Amino acid sequence: MAILVTGGTGFIGSHTVVELTGANEDLVIVDNLSNSKECVLDRLEQITGKRPKFYKADLLDKDECEKIFKENDIESVIHFAGFKAVGESVAKPMMYYHNNLMGTLNLCELMSKYGAKKIVFSSSATVYGLPKSVPISEDFPLSTTNPYGETKLMIERILADICVSDPEWSVAILRYFNPIGAHPSGLIGEDPRGIPNNLLPYVSKVAAGKLECLSVFGNDYDTPDGTGVRDYIHVVDLAKAHLCALKYAREHKGIDYFNVGTGTGYSVLEIVKAYEEASGKKVNYKIAPRRPGDIGECYANPEKAYKMLGWKAEKNIKDMCVDLARWQEMNPDGYTD
Ligand code: UD1
Repeated sequence: MAILVTGGTGFIGSHTVVELTGANEDLVIVDNLSNSKECVLDRLEQITGKRPKFYKADLLDKDECEKIFKENDIESVIHFAGFKAVGESVAKPMMYYHNNLMGTLNLCELMSKYGAKKIVFSSSATVYGLPKSVPISEDFPLSTTNPYGETKLMIERILADICVSDPEWSVAILRYFNPIGAHPSGLIGEDPRGIPNNLLPYVSKVAAGKLECLSVFGNDYDTPDGTGVRDYIHVVDLAKAHLCALKYAREHKGIDYFNVGTGTGYSVLEIVKAYEEASGKKVNYKIAPRRPGDIGECYANPEKAYKMLGWKAEKNIKDMCVDLARWQEMNPDGYTD
Protein backbone atom coordinates (compact mmCIF):
# COMPACT_ATOMS: atom_id res chain seq x y z
CA MET A 1 0.00 0.00 0.00
CA ALA A 2 1.57 3.29 -1.08
CA ILE A 3 0.98 6.98 -0.61
CA LEU A 4 0.95 9.00 -3.83
CA VAL A 5 2.72 12.34 -3.32
CA THR A 6 1.83 14.77 -6.12
CA GLY A 7 4.36 17.56 -6.47
CA GLY A 8 6.76 15.50 -4.36
CA THR A 9 9.92 17.11 -5.78
CA GLY A 10 8.77 20.64 -4.88
CA PHE A 11 9.68 22.66 -1.80
CA ILE A 12 7.10 21.34 0.67
CA GLY A 13 6.62 18.02 -1.14
CA SER A 14 10.29 17.05 -0.93
CA HIS A 15 10.46 17.81 2.80
CA THR A 16 7.33 15.72 3.33
CA VAL A 17 8.89 12.83 1.40
CA VAL A 18 11.84 12.90 3.83
CA GLU A 19 9.48 12.65 6.82
CA LEU A 20 7.35 9.91 5.21
CA THR A 21 10.45 7.87 4.37
CA GLY A 22 11.70 8.32 7.94
CA ALA A 23 8.36 6.96 9.15
CA ASN A 24 8.81 3.89 6.91
CA GLU A 25 5.88 4.79 4.69
CA ASP A 26 5.78 3.36 1.19
CA LEU A 27 5.44 6.22 -1.29
CA VAL A 28 5.36 7.14 -4.95
CA ILE A 29 6.08 10.64 -6.27
CA VAL A 30 4.39 12.12 -9.31
CA ASP A 31 5.67 15.47 -10.55
CA ASN A 32 5.84 17.12 -13.98
CA LEU A 33 9.03 18.99 -12.94
CA SER A 34 7.49 22.27 -14.13
CA ASN A 35 8.81 24.03 -11.02
CA SER A 36 11.31 21.54 -9.61
CA LYS A 37 14.29 19.48 -10.72
CA GLU A 38 14.90 15.78 -11.03
CA CYS A 39 18.13 16.04 -8.98
CA VAL A 40 15.91 16.52 -5.92
CA LEU A 41 15.56 12.72 -6.06
CA ASP A 42 19.34 12.36 -5.62
CA ARG A 43 19.21 14.73 -2.68
CA LEU A 44 16.33 12.79 -1.13
CA GLU A 45 18.32 9.59 -1.50
CA GLN A 46 21.32 11.27 0.16
CA ILE A 47 19.22 12.36 3.13
CA THR A 48 17.14 9.21 3.65
CA GLY A 49 19.29 6.45 2.14
CA LYS A 50 16.36 5.46 -0.05
CA ARG A 51 15.56 6.64 -3.57
CA PRO A 52 11.85 7.42 -3.84
CA LYS A 53 9.87 5.84 -6.65
CA PHE A 54 9.22 8.60 -9.19
CA TYR A 55 6.94 9.18 -12.17
CA LYS A 56 7.46 12.23 -14.35
CA ALA A 57 3.87 12.93 -15.32
CA ASP A 58 1.38 15.75 -15.45
CA LEU A 59 -1.92 15.47 -13.60
CA LEU A 60 -3.53 16.96 -16.72
CA ASP A 61 -2.56 13.76 -18.57
CA LYS A 62 -5.08 11.42 -17.03
CA ASP A 63 -4.03 8.33 -19.01
CA GLU A 64 -0.43 8.74 -17.92
CA CYS A 65 -1.55 9.14 -14.30
CA GLU A 66 -3.82 6.13 -14.52
CA LYS A 67 -0.70 4.02 -15.14
CA ILE A 68 0.54 5.02 -11.69
CA PHE A 69 -2.67 3.77 -10.11
CA LYS A 70 -2.48 0.54 -12.15
CA GLU A 71 1.16 -0.14 -11.32
CA ASN A 72 0.97 0.72 -7.60
CA ASP A 73 -1.42 -0.11 -4.81
CA ILE A 74 -2.22 3.52 -3.95
CA GLU A 75 -3.95 3.83 -0.57
CA SER A 76 -3.91 7.61 -0.06
CA VAL A 77 -2.72 10.84 -1.65
CA ILE A 78 -0.89 13.93 -0.42
CA HIS A 79 -1.65 16.54 -3.05
CA PHE A 80 0.88 19.37 -3.46
CA ALA A 81 1.00 19.70 -7.25
CA GLY A 82 -0.21 23.06 -8.53
CA PHE A 83 0.81 26.50 -9.68
CA LYS A 84 1.35 28.86 -6.75
CA ALA A 85 2.51 32.33 -7.78
CA VAL A 86 -0.03 35.00 -6.90
CA GLY A 87 1.11 37.61 -9.44
CA GLU A 88 1.33 35.09 -12.26
CA SER A 89 -2.20 33.90 -11.44
CA VAL A 90 -3.53 37.43 -11.89
CA ALA A 91 -1.78 37.67 -15.28
CA LYS A 92 -2.74 34.14 -16.43
CA PRO A 93 -6.00 33.18 -14.71
CA MET A 94 -7.07 30.62 -17.33
CA MET A 95 -3.78 28.80 -16.99
CA TYR A 96 -4.18 28.69 -13.20
CA TYR A 97 -7.80 27.51 -13.22
CA HIS A 98 -7.10 24.95 -15.92
CA ASN A 99 -4.00 23.50 -14.31
CA ASN A 100 -4.96 23.49 -10.63
CA LEU A 101 -8.61 22.49 -11.04
CA MET A 102 -8.37 20.02 -13.93
CA GLY A 103 -5.31 18.37 -12.40
CA THR A 104 -7.15 17.90 -9.10
CA LEU A 105 -10.32 16.61 -10.79
CA ASN A 106 -8.33 14.03 -12.78
CA LEU A 107 -6.62 12.97 -9.57
CA CYS A 108 -9.89 12.65 -7.65
CA GLU A 109 -11.53 10.67 -10.48
CA LEU A 110 -8.64 8.21 -10.43
CA MET A 111 -8.68 8.02 -6.64
CA SER A 112 -12.38 7.20 -6.77
CA LYS A 113 -11.94 4.61 -9.55
CA TYR A 114 -9.11 2.84 -7.73
CA GLY A 115 -10.66 3.08 -4.26
CA ALA A 116 -7.94 5.36 -2.81
CA LYS A 117 -10.28 7.74 -1.04
CA LYS A 118 -7.98 9.46 1.45
CA ILE A 119 -6.34 12.78 0.66
CA VAL A 120 -4.34 15.47 2.43
CA PHE A 121 -4.61 18.69 0.44
CA SER A 122 -2.22 21.68 0.50
CA SER A 123 -4.42 24.69 0.95
CA SER A 124 -3.33 28.10 2.11
CA ALA A 125 -4.16 30.82 4.60
CA THR A 126 -4.92 32.82 1.47
CA VAL A 127 -8.47 31.35 1.66
CA TYR A 128 -9.16 33.73 4.58
CA GLY A 129 -8.87 36.73 2.22
CA LEU A 130 -8.71 39.89 4.30
CA PRO A 131 -9.32 38.42 7.79
CA LYS A 132 -11.48 40.45 10.17
CA SER A 133 -9.05 39.90 13.05
CA VAL A 134 -6.06 37.83 14.17
CA PRO A 135 -5.33 35.11 15.20
CA ILE A 136 -7.25 33.36 12.43
CA SER A 137 -9.34 30.29 13.26
CA GLU A 138 -10.61 27.71 10.78
CA ASP A 139 -14.21 28.91 11.11
CA PHE A 140 -13.40 32.43 9.87
CA PRO A 141 -15.24 33.57 6.71
CA LEU A 142 -13.57 32.48 3.46
CA SER A 143 -12.81 34.68 0.46
CA THR A 144 -9.99 35.25 -1.96
CA THR A 145 -8.19 38.14 -3.60
CA ASN A 146 -6.58 36.47 -6.62
CA PRO A 147 -7.00 33.45 -8.98
CA TYR A 148 -4.34 31.38 -7.19
CA GLY A 149 -6.25 31.72 -3.91
CA GLU A 150 -9.51 31.06 -5.71
CA THR A 151 -8.17 27.72 -7.02
CA LYS A 152 -7.28 26.71 -3.45
CA LEU A 153 -10.76 27.60 -2.19
CA MET A 154 -12.49 25.95 -5.16
CA ILE A 155 -10.52 22.73 -4.59
CA GLU A 156 -11.51 22.79 -0.90
CA ARG A 157 -15.14 23.02 -2.02
CA ILE A 158 -14.79 20.29 -4.64
CA LEU A 159 -13.37 17.97 -1.98
CA ALA A 160 -16.20 18.87 0.42
CA ASP A 161 -18.78 18.01 -2.29
CA ILE A 162 -17.04 14.70 -2.98
CA CYS A 163 -17.32 13.84 0.72
CA VAL A 164 -21.05 14.60 0.65
CA SER A 165 -21.53 12.37 -2.38
CA ASP A 166 -19.45 9.47 -1.05
CA PRO A 167 -19.08 8.92 2.71
CA GLU A 168 -16.10 6.62 2.12
CA TRP A 169 -13.82 9.61 1.46
CA SER A 170 -11.46 11.11 4.07
CA VAL A 171 -10.13 14.59 3.40
CA ALA A 172 -7.74 16.64 5.54
CA ILE A 173 -7.28 20.21 4.34
CA LEU A 174 -4.11 21.90 5.59
CA ARG A 175 -4.15 25.70 5.38
CA TYR A 176 -0.50 26.72 5.40
CA PHE A 177 0.66 30.06 6.73
CA ASN A 178 4.13 31.14 5.48
CA PRO A 179 6.46 28.15 4.97
CA ILE A 180 10.17 29.02 5.08
CA GLY A 181 13.50 27.44 6.06
CA ALA A 182 15.05 24.31 4.61
CA HIS A 183 16.09 20.82 5.63
CA PRO A 184 18.88 21.00 8.28
CA SER A 185 21.12 18.93 5.95
CA GLY A 186 21.20 21.88 3.53
CA LEU A 187 20.46 19.44 0.71
CA ILE A 188 16.87 20.44 -0.07
CA GLY A 189 15.21 23.83 0.12
CA GLU A 190 13.21 26.42 -1.78
CA ASP A 191 14.44 27.17 -5.30
CA PRO A 192 12.18 29.81 -6.83
CA ARG A 193 12.38 30.54 -10.55
CA GLY A 194 13.73 34.01 -11.35
CA ILE A 195 13.43 36.84 -8.87
CA PRO A 196 11.63 35.64 -5.73
CA ASN A 197 8.26 37.11 -4.78
CA ASN A 198 8.18 35.86 -1.22
CA LEU A 199 10.04 37.56 1.59
CA LEU A 200 12.54 34.96 2.83
CA PRO A 201 13.89 33.80 -0.52
CA TYR A 202 14.38 37.48 -1.38
CA VAL A 203 16.10 38.26 1.93
CA SER A 204 18.49 35.30 1.55
CA LYS A 205 19.46 36.43 -1.96
CA VAL A 206 20.14 39.99 -0.77
CA ALA A 207 22.29 38.70 2.09
CA ALA A 208 24.21 36.51 -0.38
CA GLY A 209 24.86 39.52 -2.62
CA LYS A 210 22.77 38.08 -5.47
CA LEU A 211 20.18 40.85 -5.22
CA GLU A 212 20.95 44.40 -4.26
CA CYS A 213 18.31 45.54 -1.83
CA LEU A 214 15.09 44.34 -0.25
CA SER A 215 12.04 46.57 -0.72
CA VAL A 216 10.04 46.52 2.49
CA PHE A 217 6.48 46.83 1.24
CA GLY A 218 4.98 49.43 3.58
CA ASN A 219 5.90 50.66 7.08
CA ASP A 220 2.56 52.26 7.87
CA TYR A 221 0.53 49.19 8.79
CA ASP A 222 -1.15 49.03 12.18
CA THR A 223 1.60 46.75 13.56
CA PRO A 224 4.28 47.38 16.24
CA ASP A 225 6.93 48.59 13.76
CA GLY A 226 4.56 49.40 10.87
CA THR A 227 5.74 46.56 8.61
CA GLY A 228 3.68 43.49 7.66
CA VAL A 229 3.36 40.68 10.20
CA ARG A 230 3.17 37.01 9.15
CA ASP A 231 3.17 33.56 10.72
CA TYR A 232 6.36 31.94 9.39
CA ILE A 233 6.58 28.19 9.80
CA HIS A 234 9.58 25.92 9.34
CA VAL A 235 9.06 23.66 6.31
CA VAL A 236 10.12 20.61 8.36
CA ASP A 237 7.40 21.33 10.94
CA LEU A 238 4.96 21.76 8.06
CA ALA A 239 6.08 18.46 6.50
CA LYS A 240 5.43 16.71 9.83
CA ALA A 241 1.90 18.14 9.89
CA HIS A 242 1.19 16.10 6.74
CA LEU A 243 2.03 12.85 8.53
CA CYS A 244 -0.31 13.77 11.38
CA ALA A 245 -3.02 14.74 8.89
CA LEU A 246 -2.60 11.48 7.00
CA LYS A 247 -2.93 9.51 10.24
CA TYR A 248 -6.09 11.49 10.99
CA ALA A 249 -7.49 10.82 7.51
CA ARG A 250 -6.80 7.11 7.95
CA GLU A 251 -8.85 7.14 11.15
CA HIS A 252 -11.68 9.54 10.26
CA LYS A 253 -14.09 9.80 7.34
CA GLY A 254 -15.38 13.10 5.95
CA ILE A 255 -13.61 16.42 5.58
CA ASP A 256 -11.84 18.64 8.10
CA TYR A 257 -9.73 21.80 7.94
CA PHE A 258 -6.58 22.69 9.88
CA ASN A 259 -4.45 25.80 10.14
CA VAL A 260 -0.75 25.03 10.00
CA GLY A 261 1.17 27.88 11.58
CA THR A 262 3.04 28.64 14.78
CA GLY A 263 0.53 31.16 16.14
CA THR A 264 3.23 33.83 16.39
CA GLY A 265 3.67 36.72 13.98
CA TYR A 266 6.93 38.40 12.96
CA SER A 267 7.29 41.69 11.13
CA VAL A 268 9.38 42.17 7.99
CA LEU A 269 11.98 44.12 10.00
CA GLU A 270 12.13 41.40 12.69
CA ILE A 271 12.75 38.86 9.92
CA VAL A 272 15.52 40.98 8.43
CA LYS A 273 17.19 41.15 11.84
CA ALA A 274 16.75 37.42 12.52
CA TYR A 275 18.25 36.52 9.14
CA GLU A 276 21.19 38.88 9.63
CA GLU A 277 21.93 37.23 12.99
CA ALA A 278 21.57 33.72 11.58
CA SER A 279 23.69 34.29 8.48
CA GLY A 280 26.17 36.81 9.83
CA LYS A 281 25.48 38.86 6.69
CA LYS A 282 23.94 42.28 6.15
CA VAL A 283 20.53 42.60 4.49
CA ASN A 284 20.23 45.96 2.74
CA TYR A 285 16.69 47.24 2.66
CA LYS A 286 14.65 50.30 1.80
CA ILE A 287 11.09 51.21 2.65
CA ALA A 288 8.83 51.00 -0.41
CA PRO A 289 5.08 51.50 -0.97
CA ARG A 290 2.64 48.81 0.17
CA ARG A 291 2.24 45.87 -2.24
CA PRO A 292 -1.32 45.86 -3.63
CA GLY A 293 -3.44 43.14 -2.04
CA ASP A 294 -1.24 42.77 1.05
CA ILE A 295 -2.70 42.76 4.54
CA GLY A 296 -1.07 44.14 7.68
CA GLU A 297 -1.25 41.12 9.95
CA CYS A 298 -1.83 37.43 9.36
CA TYR A 299 -1.21 34.70 11.90
CA ALA A 300 -2.88 31.46 12.86
CA ASN A 301 -4.73 30.12 15.79
CA PRO A 302 -3.12 26.65 15.51
CA GLU A 303 -5.03 25.10 18.46
CA LYS A 304 -7.24 22.85 16.36
CA ALA A 305 -4.29 21.09 14.72
CA TYR A 306 -2.82 20.51 18.18
CA LYS A 307 -6.08 19.19 19.66
CA MET A 308 -7.17 17.02 16.75
CA LEU A 309 -3.95 16.06 14.94
CA GLY A 310 -1.57 16.18 17.90
CA TRP A 311 0.67 18.47 15.84
CA LYS A 312 2.38 21.65 16.84
CA ALA A 313 5.30 23.62 15.44
CA GLU A 314 8.57 22.97 17.25
CA LYS A 315 11.09 25.13 15.44
CA ASN A 316 11.55 28.83 16.10
CA ILE A 317 12.44 31.76 13.88
CA LYS A 318 16.16 31.30 14.55
CA ASP A 319 16.00 27.65 13.38
CA MET A 320 14.16 28.79 10.24
CA CYS A 321 16.75 31.45 9.40
CA VAL A 322 19.80 29.28 10.26
CA ASP A 323 18.52 26.45 8.05
CA LEU A 324 17.65 28.80 5.20
CA ALA A 325 21.09 30.44 5.43
CA ARG A 326 22.75 26.99 5.28
CA TRP A 327 20.70 26.03 2.20
CA GLN A 328 21.64 29.33 0.54
CA GLU A 329 25.32 28.89 1.43
CA MET A 330 25.48 25.30 0.15
CA ASN A 331 23.37 25.99 -2.98
CA PRO A 332 24.07 29.61 -4.00
CA ASP A 333 22.21 29.15 -7.31
CA GLY A 334 19.64 26.62 -6.13
CA TYR A 335 19.62 23.14 -7.66
CA THR A 336 22.19 23.27 -10.43
CA ASP A 337 23.11 19.58 -10.89
C1 UD1 B 1 2.14 35.31 -0.23
C2 UD1 B 1 0.89 35.31 -1.08
C3 UD1 B 1 -0.05 34.26 -0.52
C4 UD1 B 1 0.62 32.90 -0.57
C5 UD1 B 1 1.93 32.95 0.21
C6 UD1 B 1 2.70 31.68 0.00
C7 UD1 B 1 0.69 37.59 -1.96
C8 UD1 B 1 -0.08 38.85 -1.91
N1 UD1 B 1 0.30 36.63 -1.08
O1 UD1 B 1 1.77 35.62 1.12
O2 UD1 B 1 -1.23 34.21 -1.28
O3 UD1 B 1 -0.21 31.91 -0.02
O4 UD1 B 1 2.75 34.03 -0.26
O5 UD1 B 1 3.87 31.66 0.73
O6 UD1 B 1 1.61 37.41 -2.74
N2 UD1 B 1 7.49 41.55 1.72
C9 UD1 B 1 8.34 42.63 1.57
N3 UD1 B 1 9.23 42.64 0.53
C10 UD1 B 1 9.31 41.62 -0.37
C11 UD1 B 1 8.45 40.50 -0.21
C12 UD1 B 1 7.55 40.51 0.84
O7 UD1 B 1 8.30 43.58 2.35
O8 UD1 B 1 10.13 41.68 -1.31
C13 UD1 B 1 6.57 41.52 2.87
C14 UD1 B 1 5.10 41.45 2.49
O9 UD1 B 1 4.55 42.71 2.32
C15 UD1 B 1 4.52 40.69 3.69
C16 UD1 B 1 5.65 39.75 4.11
O10 UD1 B 1 6.83 40.34 3.58
O11 UD1 B 1 4.25 41.56 4.74
C17 UD1 B 1 5.52 38.35 3.59
O12 UD1 B 1 5.35 38.37 2.18
P1 UD1 B 1 5.34 37.04 1.31
O13 UD1 B 1 6.50 36.19 1.65
O14 UD1 B 1 5.18 37.43 -0.13
O15 UD1 B 1 4.06 36.24 1.83
P2 UD1 B 1 2.52 36.72 1.94
O16 UD1 B 1 2.30 38.03 1.35
O17 UD1 B 1 2.10 36.54 3.35
